[in-house]
Amino acid sequence: MIRPPIEPFRIKVVEPVRMTTEDERRSIIAKAGYNLFRVRAEDIYIDLLTDSGTSAMSDRQWSGMMIGDESYAGCRNFYSLEESIRKIYGFPYFVPTHQGRAAEHILFATMLKPGDYVPSNMHFDTTRANIESLGAHAVDMVIPEGLDPQTIHPFKGNVDVARLEAFIREVGKDRIPLGMVTITNNNGGGQPVSLENIRQVSEVLHRNGIPLFIDACRYAENAYFIQQREESQAGRTTLEIANETFSYADGCTMSAKKDALVNIGGFLAMRDPALYERICQRLILWEGFPTYGGLAGRDLEAIARGLWEALDENYLAYRIGQVGYLGARLKELGIPLLEPVGGHAVYLDAKRFLPHIPQEHLPAQALAVELYTAGSIRTVEIGTVMNARQDPQTGETIYPALELVRMAIPRRVYTNTHMDYIAETTARVYEQREKTGGYKIVYEPPFLRHFTARFAALD
Ligand SMILES: Cc1ncc(COP(=O)(O)O)c(C=O)c1O
Repeated sequence: MIRPPIEPFRIKVVEPVRMTTEDERRSIIAKAGYNLFRVRAEDIYIDLLTDSGTSAMSDRQWSGMMIGDESYAGCRNFYSLEESIRKIYGFPYFVPTHQGRAAEHILFATMLKPGDYVPSNMHFDTTRANIESLGAHAVDMVIPEGLDPQTIHPFKGNVDVARLEAFIREVGKDRIPLGMVTITNNNGGGQPVSLENIRQVSEVLHRNGIPLFIDACRYAENAYFIQQREESQAGRTTLEIANETFSYADGCTMSAKKDALVNIGGFLAMRDPALYERICQRLILWEGFPTYGGLAGRDLEAIARGLWEALDENYLAYRIGQVGYLGARLKELGIPLLEPVGGHAVYLDAKRFLPHIPQEHLPAQALAVELYTAGSIRTVEIGTVMNARQDPQTGETIYPALELVRMAIPRRVYTNTHMDYIAETTARVYEQREKTGGYKIVYEPPFLRHFTARFAALD
């Protein structure tokens, strides 16, 4: 029997959730143009749309909010956050931002020009869009195992280092103002990156004079995987591993909405004082004064405290354990998954779940709609809708290798009974999979289409 992990907390405040009928849900999703982003949250029973900004904060974080100092400049909470960032990340300079993508936007607008390249294991969608909107190219080079949902590998988020070297030779280091690594690799299944791989990437980039920035939003989950899976790291604390991870980088972008266990916030950290000066100028224009970014003092305090809570090894064992428990239950029920299960989410493999729906008919979108209709579970498509591209030469659609539905688990929010409900509902959808049909897009914006696109069911 698969056992769920024991929660290292007890519950002090509860928030009721409402169940709707299947008929109600059919009408709600049709009105939303079959896009789950367009459904009201109160019409959802279990919301697995994202693990971002959906965490339950601790009593320590809430009490920290009461000592929020809302001074315009130099508030005390900026200095608490500075201390946490120094001790965990080791970067001497940082600016708060209202969330991760603001850090990305400011970094890229400062460092990139049209035609530049930014290699990474796999860019997250906002990262890619921020690079592309500046006329630069976001290039993914995860190891081949990272693109095969069935290959078992401990670090499927690793960068293909030989490809990175070849790529630098091919386009030239002058056209690569920075390289990135996303830890964990969200778009590739929440898969970790090994410490050894981060060290090698850093070495290759630095040998070519290219700085490395880490997309760090799940740094604590990545450190836990390193501790559990990388032989040489077994005896170390997650803090020591995080320290070493960032020692290889020149800076990081951080969405605090993940491993800082808060509902809003982010930051951009770096070593280079000259870059920091340039970043501050843009920050003042777009986000706010450098000691608050786009945030209130109370938010800064909650982040400063959450960064430590996320590294707590009892919490991480429960966190990674709960996601693993859901994955194991689904697997036991015969559901096709991306394996091994990642850190923050279970990813259903829509190509194998709905093999009768070709990729151009959006199988992952169809599966997400079905999970909502069957059990009021909101998930997110990470497949053709989110990641398909147009070939600039031929105009033909390039389909992504992975066609996934992500079930992201909010931190400290749902119980293990909720995990059982999710597994059982998914099994019900799987039993009736032949009745599920495809979809087509009837409206899409030029960037990040998955947020606002509308769909129609194919007959
Ligand atoms: C890997 C990764 N990078 C960047 C972001 C963007 O962060 P935010 O949503 O705070 O703008 C996300 C958000 O989900 C993410 O998962």
